[in-house]
Amino acid sequence: MNIKQRMDELVEILEKANYEYYVLAEPTITDQEFDKYLRELETLEKEYPEYAKKNSPTKRVGGMVIDKFQKLKHSIPMLSLPDVFSEEEIIEFDERIRKSGFHPEYVCELKIDGVSVSLHYENGEFVTGATRGDGTIGEDISHNVKTIRSVPMHLRKPVSIEVRGEIYMPKETLAKLNQERLELDMPLLQNCRNATAGSIRQLDSSVAAKRNLNTWIYHLPNPEDYGIKTHFEALEYMKSLGFKTNPCNRLVKDIDGILHFISEYQEKRDSLSYDIDGIVIKVNDLEMQKKLGFTSKYPRWAIAYKFPALEVLTKLNDIIFTVGRTGRITPNAVLDPVIVMGSTVKRATLHNEDYILEKGLKIGDTVSIRKAGDVIPEVVEAKLERRTGNETDFVMITHCPICGSLLQKKEGQVDHYCMNPKCPARHIEGLVHFVSRHAMNIDGFGEKIMEDFFNLGFIKSIPDIYHLDQHKEDLVELEGYGHKSVDNLLEAIEESKKNSLERLLFGLGIGGIGDKTALLLARIYKTMDELASKTKEELMEIRDIGPILAQNIEDYFANVDNQTLIHNLKELGLNMKFLGEELKTSDDFTGKRFVVTGTISFMGRDEIEKIIESYGGHASGSVSSKTDVVIVGENPGSKETKAKELGILIWDEEHLYSVLKDLGEI
Ligand code: IVH
Repeated sequence: MNIKQRMDELVEILEKANYEYYVLAEPTITDQEFDKYLRELETLEKEYPEYAKKNSPTKRVGGMVIDKFQKLKHSIPMLSLPDVFSEEEIIEFDERIRKSGFHPEYVCELKIDGVSVSLHYENGEFVTGATRGDGTIGEDISHNVKTIRSVPMHLRKPVSIEVRGEIYMPKETLAKLNQERLELDMPLLQNCRNATAGSIRQLDSSVAAKRNLNTWIYHLPNPEDYGIKTHFEALEYMKSLGFKTNPCNRLVKDIDGILHFISEYQEKRDSLSYDIDGIVIKVNDLEMQKKLGFTSKYPRWAIAYKFPALEVLTKLNDIIFTVGRTGRITPNAVLDPVIVMGSTVKRATLHNEDYILEKGLKIGDTVSIRKAGDVIPEVVEAKLERRTGNETDFVMITHCPICGSLLQKKEGQVDHYCMNPKCPARHIEGLVHFVSRHAMNIDGFGEKIMEDFFNLGFIKSIPDIYHLDQHKEDLVELEGYGHKSVDNLLEAIEESKKNSLERLLFGLGIGGIGDKTALLLARIYKTMDELASKTKEELMEIRDIGPILAQNIEDYFANVDNQTLIHNLKELGLNMKFLGEELKTSDDFTGKRFVVTGTISFMGRDEIEKIIESYGGHASGSVSSKTDVVIVGENPGSKETKAKELGILIWDEEHLYSVLKDLGEI
């Protein structure tokens, strides 16, 4: 076999693997094998660029950067659908069609809450992907679409075709992204749709490549070109070409079938791995669709039933400002307490000034509240019809609410910052973090106590914590603090000096260093000085340390104030070395990613995760394509289903038991 033939063969193997993994969810090769083939192809493409294919699987990892989005005209407009909100309106839709003399069957589909896309292929080869834009002219997002693994680059037949569908971000990916953003003190993404829209509008495709975007394809604009007679056949046809069509799509005979589908998925909605906001109902027969035609805006043969919004009304009593550890100012809505999806909401983030101005919120407004992504409460809008005239306009503050410094807005950004590095607000949050459970774990040091000590002037900086004994007499005089509790606290503070390096490292609050990363760094570099001497490039050699984090670490240790802080802590006798156990190794655990789900009868989950980590394995809470093994106990729930869908190795209790037994852990 010559080089070109081998490269073609590799492309074929990798595409087949992509299809099996991402479209069928039935992988036949392991991640390791996939990586091996991909690396071989990458090497050959570098050496023989003349044989590299334009749509090679190596392009899936991104790296293409465009300087602006090109416009693309849709040959057939990309329409949206009329929304309906009640059973009556669905019945009316059906009656209207029957009155026109038809006896329709319908296809019911999930209404995916993502961003619509049009995909073009010529002779079976991917050519372009475009957004809807204004319906007539969209934007070319091909560079990002290429990174979406479920979008085929070669079809199974050499047809020229346009298909349409939805790009979406799985719920779990959004949760992970937000967790990372929280650690980096970045504004949170509000929901899967916004996160998807933000990802596909990136000029650099390596960003989209990391966002785990996915697709459901649901529309064939030119069915007659392929001799297709019904919408359901069109879905089947698109599936046969290699597109990912939704297995929930259902052909129903009548209105009862529609209503049944709706109530079924209203119930299953939460257990789906992606967001849906309703059900789409389409006339199945394409001839019938043609005869029904279009209004100026919408097709007459389809509607979108929108699920009732999980929103409640309450009053916006005030907007207050908090200052984060990085100095970022966040406006927060102070609300009349209200229950949304089972939990009480009193506060909701308003993100930044622009967000409030765009929504036109006034203090005193009645506002609707929704829990986006089921966790973060969000103010949706002000109810203008409820205004009394007594509301007051929102005015953005100009000075830090805590230290009074003039706030600054960085160019091109929406957030205001307090630039005063000595701002107490930044310190209180940092101090509370320093003593918290996963950091220095100083028992009896809650937020309230820290605030009291801060206001009394006893603690202004981290070293002051270790000078607190000088205020012992003052402390016992304070209301609520007796001899015993003060002694206990001082003892816990003293004890914390002996902590292993990772706790101190996490406690310092270096942007992006969570407790797991702190442990990783401590384990590798062993001492604070060693870590402090590393350059960004050296740090990036570690798996799991990306450029932003590496830069944060380098910047942190380059800062003179931080150097002084570490010097002072050393003088105070804080341990600066890694004291944890050295990593053990085992083929079963080392370097692998695990998820433990359900109840394991012989051991708690925390303990299992500790053992995994002590062998250099990684324990995480959510199943993704990166997971190597899911350990399944009793009542495992959706994680087991997901693992099966993704073809991930599953260990049951007995297997786990025998592995742990062999390693002498039990
Ligand atoms: S069909 C002409 N099917 O909802 C028919 N749309 O307002 C075109 N959507 O813009 C759309 N899931 O972005 C269709 N199963 C589905 C859908 C779906 C989500 C979106 C799409 C469209 C909007 C309709």
